[in-house]
Amino acid sequence: MAEPGGAPRGAHQPVGSVRRSFAPWTDPAAQAFIRFEDVSRRFGSVAAVDGVDLAIYEREFFCLLGPSGCGKTTLMRMLAGFETPSAGRILLGGQDLAGLPPYRRPVNMMFQSYALFPHMSVAGNIAFGLKQEGLPRSEIEDRVAAILKLVQLEGFGARRPDQLSGGQKQRVALARALVKRPKVLLLDEPLGALDKKLREETQFELMDLQVELGMTFLVVTHDQDEAMTMADRIAVMERGRLAQVGTPAEIYESPATRSVAAFVGDITLFEGTVERRDGEVVSVAGAAGQAFRVVGAPRDGAVAAAGDAVAVAVRPEKMELLADRPEAGPNVLEGEIWDIGYLGDWTTYRVKIADGSIVKVARANAARHVARPLTWEDRVWIRFAPDAAVVLAR
Ligand SMILES: Nc1ncnc2c1ncn2[C@@H]1O[C@H](COP(=O)(O)OP(=O)(O)OP(=O)(O)O)[C@@H](O)[C@H]1O
Ligand SMILES: [Mg+2]
Repeated sequence: MAEPGGAPRGAHQPVGSVRRSFAPWTDPAAQAFIRFEDVSRRFGSVAAVDGVDLAIYEREFFCLLGPSGCGKTTLMRMLAGFETPSAGRILLGGQDLAGLPPYRRPVNMMFQSYALFPHMSVAGNIAFGLKQEGLPRSEIEDRVAAILKLVQLEGFGARRPDQLSGGQKQRVALARALVKRPKVLLLDEPLGALDKKLREETQFELMDLQVELGMTFLVVTHDQDEAMTMADRIAVMERGRLAQVGTPAEIYESPATRSVAAFVGDITLFEGTVERRDGEVVSVAGAAGQAFRVVGAPRDGAVAAAGDAVAVAVRPEKMELLADRPEAGPNVLEGEIWDIGYLGDWTTYRVKIADGSIVKVARANAARHVARPLTWEDRVWIRFAPDAAVVLAR
């Protein structure tokens, strides 16, 4: 079957070739698989979810990212049918889900709190849904064994949940959700309790599995690296609303708002006022007397007319750190090395500039030895290219 995104997706294709060409959201003819239409959910005076419009495509790996309490779980529970919208509609495959109970929806949800059956063994927990479906015993056994292997819990099938660690319980909950192979799998913080290495491994396993089984994934995480690694697209939520929806690269390179910029990755915001705008080129006078020049249209057309208060936002790895004074020009800042964090592959420098604020600059450690290493209290210059920054409205 040809996907709206272009390439056919089969079970034995390399994941990379599938993911590379998958972008149905860029195709105006593509039909959304899941559609939230102006969906809200109020609890008393709190709008947990507030007017969300969102289209998710079949076989998409979609991540919801956002700070605690922004409405991620509530949005997911409405799709699963455990919560009813106060307003708006949710469609799946063109069908309005209103009134359809959770067990009638082709959706399976793994809860943030795991919700394992305490009196059942690990294998019993995982097999539960398959037994309800009335699958033959031998198939249930095979599928349970395969999934236990996937989550690295072979040999744990006979234990009860209270005999497991937190991370192991989380893996059982994940296995229980995966084993049913629903069309849509909702995972609420599925990897939060795993240690870093197992977490990274499981991220890649999940991505492979999603392609292999042809499932649509909606995954909640508050770990931005995890979302960037796994997702086809990310929605950043903020107080019940969607602040931005885009691919990981779009969200990282062109954040729509200050809060998205600050939430996803490190960024320095230089406050200032627009002096001039010539098409794509925006000149900004920094509040501390700096001169900035940024190329690239600001995302919001209304932003960046002369006199507007804006921020020039730059990521740490997009700034150069120079030991010698460069030629005068825009996007050059003088400062002093205030702190150094050696991370092995990267070193991050915290540089104190003239107005006393700290700018974070990251440098890749490509060579093992550097002729003139920068050190504490060194005088340095920061420089960045006009297309390395974005202008954000205040
Ligand atoms: N049943 C409920 N009754 C009242 N308020 C609720 C209820 N469920 C959620 N809320 C409120 O709605 C808001 C969103 O909650 P939600 O659980 O969706 O957040 P979240 O993004 O999943 O947060 P976290 O990352 O901490 O899990 C919060 O302010 C929460 O207190
Ligand atoms: Mg939650």
